[in-house]
Amino acid sequence: GRHALVTSGPTIEPIDPVRFIANRSSGKQGHAIAAELASRGARVTLVSGPVTLPSPPAVELVEVETARQMLEACEAALPAEIAVCAAAVADWHVKDAGTAKLKKQDGGPPPPIELAENPDILRRLSSHEARPDLVVGFAAETGNLRENAAAKLTRKGCDWILANDVAPDTGTFGGDDNEICLISGADETADECWERQSKTGVARALSARIIKHFS
Ligand code: C5P
Repeated sequence: GRHALVTSGPTIEPIDPVRFIANRSSGKQGHAIAAELASRGARVTLVSGPVTLPSPPAVELVEVETARQMLEACEAALPAEIAVCAAAVADWHVKDAGTAKLKKQDGGPPPPIELAENPDILRRLSSHEARPDLVVGFAAETGNLRENAAAKLTRKGCDWILANDVAPDTGTFGGDDNEICLISGADETADECWERQSKTGVARALSARIIKHFS
């Protein structure tokens, strides 16, 4: 019966009306978390960037494209007791993305693309006046996993960081499996590391941990 807000997928940021900047997030982990929380009885709002996955049953799906739209949809979904930010939000958008298609000039230089910072949704939710009781983020790192994840926990102001290694040889980004450590503070001995398993398995483990937290 608790309300859970989950972000998932990539955001895409327009360059002009026909081109955009994107990333390789599949949405598999975020969608699996939304599905699992719903199956455990939560009321789930899933705010997702463009993915090819079907909507999990029994969740309210809000489809967005850009990080700014994702933030707006998340804030509109509050209040919620739980927020899990699993989306791979683009760090930047294109400043002054035009309404006309950029034209290639024969022999001319490529057009400059100026970037501007996107809002950090996890950080905003963590410091929101209607802050969810439990705010969970991900740290996808290719090195110094524990150190970077712990720094992220502090910087973002969330309660848990699910740290995962996305080095190319792990096949995690876009793949079906994930290996997670749940980090909840500076004390490394309190880390909870789960065996490498399917993203559905990770979603199950996280949901069980969330239920334990609230009980
Ligand atoms: O800073 P970094 O992108 O590594 O942080 C990852 C975590 O922060 C993820 O939980 C992601 O969903 C969230 N995030 C966000 N908004 C951003 C950037 C990241 O919610 N603009």
